Amino acid sequence: MNWEGIEMEKRRNAVGIDKVYDYLNDAGTYFLATVDGDKPKVRPFGTILLYDGKLYIQTGNGKDVTKQLAGNPHAEICACMDGSWLRIAAELVLDNNHEAKVRMLEKLPALKQMYNADDDSMQMYYLRDASAAFFSFTSAPEIITF
Ligand SMILES: Cc1cc2nc3c(=O)[nH]c(=O)nc-3n(C[C@H](O)[C@H](O)[C@H](O)COP(=O)(O)O)c2cc1C
Repeated sequence: MNWEGIEMEKRRNAVGIDKVYDYLNDAGTYFLATVDGDKPKVRPFGTILLYDGKLYIQTGNGKDVTKQLAGNPHAEICACMDGSWLRIAAELVLDNNHEAKVRMLEKLPALKQMYNADDDSMQMYYLRDASAAFFSFTSAPEIITF
């Protein structure tokens, strides 16, 4: 791919990641599936932040989900809303960027009761090599990668 092609691809990904962020934000709750040995584990999540061109989720250091991601970073996210649904397959990369933590706490002040940006109680992950598929009962699937 030439330089122009790379720039176009970056713009396309930037638009795509915004659409994924907006959908997860509007849905409010999504379900995060991880792998525990040879078994799936799924639970509701709600934290979502678009920061520095990356989509972050947040969890706690002591949780099983954190241990599972340390063993296997591959995860899926699923959300649904108004007859549509979104499924994302991605690698979750641990990135305890201080500013990302601060922004997450600003967005969801209730988290401050449990977490502090200055210690490792709060764990931030961003989605890498993500393939996000939008589905509905009425239109063809749309795939966005970022
Ligand atoms: C609507 C809703 C949203 C939630 N969002 C989060 C979240 O973003 N991060 C988190 O760590 N826990 C969140 N939780 C709590 C987790 O689902 C819960 O701690 C779960 O047990 C974590 O999975 P684990 O037990 O496998 O570690 C949420 C719970 C609900 C009901």
